[in-house]
Amino acid sequence: MEIIIVADADEGARIVADQFEQIVREAGSTGATLGLATGSSPLPAYRELIRRHRHEGLSFAACRAFLLDEYVGLPAGHEQSYHRFIRDNFVSGIDIDDAAVISPDGTADDPAVEAARYDAGIGAAGGVDLQILGIGSNGHIAFNEPGSSLASRTRPVVLAESTIADNSRYFETREDVPVQAISQGLGTIGEARRIVLTASGQNKAEAIAQMAEGAVSARWPATSLQLHPEVTVVVDEAAASRLELADYYRHTRRIVDHHTGTGHS
Ligand code: F6R
Repeated sequence: MEIIIVADADEGARIVADQFEQIVREAGSTGATLGLATGSSPLPAYRELIRRHRHEGLSFAACRAFLLDEYVGLPAGHEQSYHRFIRDNFVSGIDIDDAAVISPDGTADDPAVEAARYDAGIGAAGGVDLQILGIGSNGHIAFNEPGSSLASRTRPVVLAESTIADNSRYFETREDVPVQAISQGLGTIGEARRIVLTASGQNKAEAIAQMAEGAVSARWPATSLQLHPEVTVVVDEAAASRLELADYYRHTRRIVDHHTGTGHS
């Protein structure tokens, strides 16, 4: 796991966007398969990618994308559905084919059947080339709440009380927040060829420390990422504040940047 501690959101956004740009350019006309997250954490990176599309000719026309999750009960057009969120905040600003941006159907009669169909669809498309993730303050990724099997597949899940409280900022009242979602599983996410997780703020500090340095355990679902060979974590100083090895991560980055001559600032 490569941990990059950044000075501000702009620097983080550039580093995450660089990863997307590399994958998209490498795939060329074949098109990359992108794994997209909703929530506030990826927004600076999405804005940077929209800027690169508009001003630097970065094209997503050949790409396809799968979302991590969707609320059960919200139709695609609902203003808080993740189907809508990703269009409002990313997809409408780039040239990807809208029909190639796929999410679970939160209104399916049988969410378990829909979840299995969705999981199989990711595999049938050849898997995800680059998955972007946020992290919950309780250590969830997608909606894999504490207690999730490390081998879990896409399935219906019940949101933790803390997640409902965290996400109530998007809804008028806490009672409006759906209590269930269809979420990619930890096993599903782990099949992405590369993963970039981004987080900011003090309320993510414990989750980040557990994810990077804690024991692998269903208690902190993001620890499953320790088993993946290609994970980059981009965090600000506040989110990094409980990392015991923060000095080592900074030192590593200085050495790597010196040898590759890249630098990220
Ligand atoms: C979003 C998702 C969630 C969020 C997490 C962090 O699709 O699956 O795991 O990434 O809840 O949310 P923010 O970024 O809003 O703090």
